[in-house]
Amino acid sequence: MREIEKKKLKVLYKNLKEASRYFLGYPCNLAYDYPELDEFFALSINNVGDPFGDSLYRVNTHEFEREVLCFFADLYRVDREKFWGYVTNGGTESNMYGLYLAREANPGGIVYFSEDTHYSISKTVKVLNMPSIMIRSQKNGEIDYDDLGKMLTIKRESPAIIVANIGTTMKGAVDKVEKILDILKKNRVQKYYIHCDAALGGMILPFVKSAPLFDFRLPIGSIAVSGHKMIGSPMPCGVVIARKKHAERIKRAIEYVGILDTTLSGSRNGHSVLILWLAIKKLGLKGFEQRVGHCLAMTDYALKKLKEINWPAWANENYNTVVLKRPDDQIVNKWQLAVQGDLAHILVMPHADKKRINGLIHELQASKK
Ligand SMILES: Cc1ncc(COP(=O)(O)O)c(C=O)c1O
Repeated sequence: MREIEKKKLKVLYKNLKEASRYFLGYPCNLAYDYPELDEFFALSINNVGDPFGDSLYRVNTHEFEREVLCFFADLYRVDREKFWGYVTNGGTESNMYGLYLAREANPGGIVYFSEDTHYSISKTVKVLNMPSIMIRSQKNGEIDYDDLGKMLTIKRESPAIIVANIGTTMKGAVDKVEKILDILKKNRVQKYYIHCDAALGGMILPFVKSAPLFDFRLPIGSIAVSGHKMIGSPMPCGVVIARKKHAERIKRAIEYVGILDTTLSGSRNGHSVLILWLAIKKLGLKGFEQRVGHCLAMTDYALKKLKEINWPAWANENYNTVVLKRPDDQIVNKWQLAVQGDLAHILVMPHADKKRINGLIHELQASKK
């Protein structure tokens, strides 16, 4: 490599490292370390095709992917014989897959989702050409159940495909799946499919005792969860878990790779599978429970500190998103806080320790003067 390129990379590394020091606004965990996997980055791993099949492309990590999927199947309480899933490129692909299965199971179905829903859902309904109705949100970001009921009454004859947010992007609000089921029953909707977008909440709520239920003990169709969020990964990744009967509907055989085509992507990242596998093995359920406990305790700490300086802020219960009055642009940019109108938020992820939170509070206080 020439000196000029070496220098360019050095500068990039320094800038990225510096930006990571002030990272408080997005739901990515920066506190991870996977040195055990270094040697695998010299291998062209590709998990093309169905993780439960044998491919002609054998430089894959399908066996490890199956272990990862079984971890999530157990976590989300679905029988190992009755689920199907795969490791995706991230939350968006997981959501798109869930809605694809929903559409195939319910031709002509209407997708209902709240206005606080992540933009990947409105993008997906466009890509999949699915009719949709946007439902009002409550002030805390949770779906407005009355509005959902009203809209369902109008279209009672059409199958309903409902996206439940298990933690909205901006306010960390959780749509209550049991309440949604009550509304479907009350409105005598015969055919429905519930997809849970649990990008971040999918690795929070299972570890909080008083959290509302959203898993396969309820009649839901699929769950999307991100890998780079609470688990932590240097590259974006996600997982989708669905009922097997829905995935069966879309599979087809591909001779070229000698495996069933059941995924949205063709070539798939086999390294991210190893990262998720290692994180699961290192932490286990106990470790994730402690991690979530730490994030929620730090969320309380951030709220307390904001109160001390009289900066308006609040958080939804059992969640690590602190919604606050939007600070000036300099602070927003430095701390990479996500913003929406006059609101901003802090995502209290595992790397958000007291030192980092105090740093932001100090600057907020100074900006008031
Ligand atoms: C609730 C929710 N769903 C889906 C996504 C999309 O995830 P990704 O950026 O991994 O595609 C996000 C991203 O932040 C999210 O917050």
